[in-house]
Amino acid sequence: MSSIFEITQKDASGRIGKLVTRHGTIETPTIMPVINPNIPLIDIDEMKDIGAQILITNSYIIYRSEKLHDKALNEGLHELIGFDGPIMTDSGSFQLSVYGDVEITNEEIIDFQKKIGSDIAVPLDIPTPPDVSYEKASSEINTTVERLKKAREKFTDDMLLAGPVQGSTYSDLREKCAQELTELDFDVYPIGAVVPLMEDYRYSKLVDVIVSSKKGLKPSSPVHLFGAGHPMGFALEVALGCDLFDSAAYALYAKNKRYITVYGTYHLENLHYLPCSCPVCANYTAQELKSAENNVELLAKHNLYVTFEEMNLIKQSIKEGDLLELVEQRCRSHPRLLEALKTMYKYSDWLEKYNPVTKSTIFYCGPESSKRPEVLHFSKRIERFTVNGSAIIRSNSTKQDDEFDNILMFKPPLGTFPVELLETYPFNIETISSPDYESIEVALLNTIKLIEQNPEANFTFVYEYDLYHPLLDKISEMANLVRKYE
Ligand code: GUN
Ligand code: ZN
Repeated sequence: MSSIFEITQKDASGRIGKLVTRHGTIETPTIMPVINPNIPLIDIDEMKDIGAQILITNSYIIYRSEKLHDKALNEGLHELIGFDGPIMTDSGSFQLSVYGDVEITNEEIIDFQKKIGSDIAVPLDIPTPPDVSYEKASSEINTTVERLKKAREKFTDDMLLAGPVQGSTYSDLREKCAQELTELDFDVYPIGAVVPLMEDYRYSKLVDVIVSSKKGLKPSSPVHLFGAGHPMGFALEVALGCDLFDSAAYALYAKNKRYITVYGTYHLENLHYLPCSCPVCANYTAQELKSAENNVELLAKHNLYVTFEEMNLIKQSIKEGDLLELVEQRCRSHPRLLEALKTMYKYSDWLEKYNPVTKSTIFYCGPESSKRPEVLHFSKRIERFTVNGSAIIRSNSTKQDDEFDNILMFKPPLGTFPVELLETYPFNIETISSPDYESIEVALLNTIKLIEQNPEANFTFVYEYDLYHPLLDKISEMANLVRKYE
């Protein structure tokens, strides 16, 4: 079953795709609101209006409840939940990770999911938490893979089967686990046991976990980030190649009287204004929301609105080709996210493989942009430029330009390139006129590369910025360096 996911548009490692289930096709990236089958907080039809295409619920909770168990078996999961679109069911593994034990076997819960008519089922994987010993992570992967293998052998019909990637915080184990699961051929690959990382704001580690898991999967496989429900990380997580998210956050935060925004969360008590225009926030003042009897439900709705709004913005950004600009903006709302952005660009080499080779004009958003995959892509292609004779490298035209055989443009963070290319992608990057240290560094490194590759040519480098960088000393040994502000 390999054609259930079709990718229609890409940006960075993010993509818009279509996932086919037996209750319909959904467009990804998307969020699956978590439904508590005992007490749904929001009416299911309203959830659809807010944007839910697919829901997720916990088959173990249904299994354990006498009332729900029989109803689900007799009438089916969709009737029980009151939703005719696709429903994914989790297995009780999360309960296993929180309470240490569940009263069910892998075979029983997977059988049950099948019988109640789940669209995407999850076997009983072991969510190995972060920072356990390597041996423990490794041996728990073996148990997880064994159970997943049993589930895969058993189900070959049109119920989709998820194979969660585990491996704690060990990149090599995550990659290896993902490779083993790929061999078994699952339909959806959740990245498991990342909730503790997100709870502790360890977004940088989360980037490592996502990238290493993705490296072991096929790029064409749909990936679910298990338990990721706060919209502040969505842009980053989608850019790394996650397609499905599940949000219990909208309800859990509401129960704690917390109001979600993409920049972070407010406690209802501290809200004086409502910085949102969803139907809830348009109809209530902060004061009214505080005193509303049903404010948990209202908060849950607002939380869900902002969650879907962010996903729509992300999808629009993928279409526009400016997802990384959005990621860079979002990652400035918390220092831990800024760290994660820096970590993401450590993987620029990997991102570059999936990034479209041409897209809309890049916007420079700060020092981190110097490490973008597009900049790296250019630096790898410098060897394609051959320079013969004399060449002037400068940022603005000079009176001497005509005296040279070649006129080259110096534009941080890219570096040096023929001036004729200035209006074309990626050289048309919108950048700042007083470049920062990081962008100058990358540009100088790329310039050195160009000069070294053309030893016969004779370069004059007119450096027009007052910011000193030690690489200028190196350039002065290779070229005639003119510093304008000296
Ligand atoms: N929910 C959150 N994390 C996990 C996980 O690792 N596995 C399963 N099955 N459910 C989860
Ligand atoms: Zn709102």
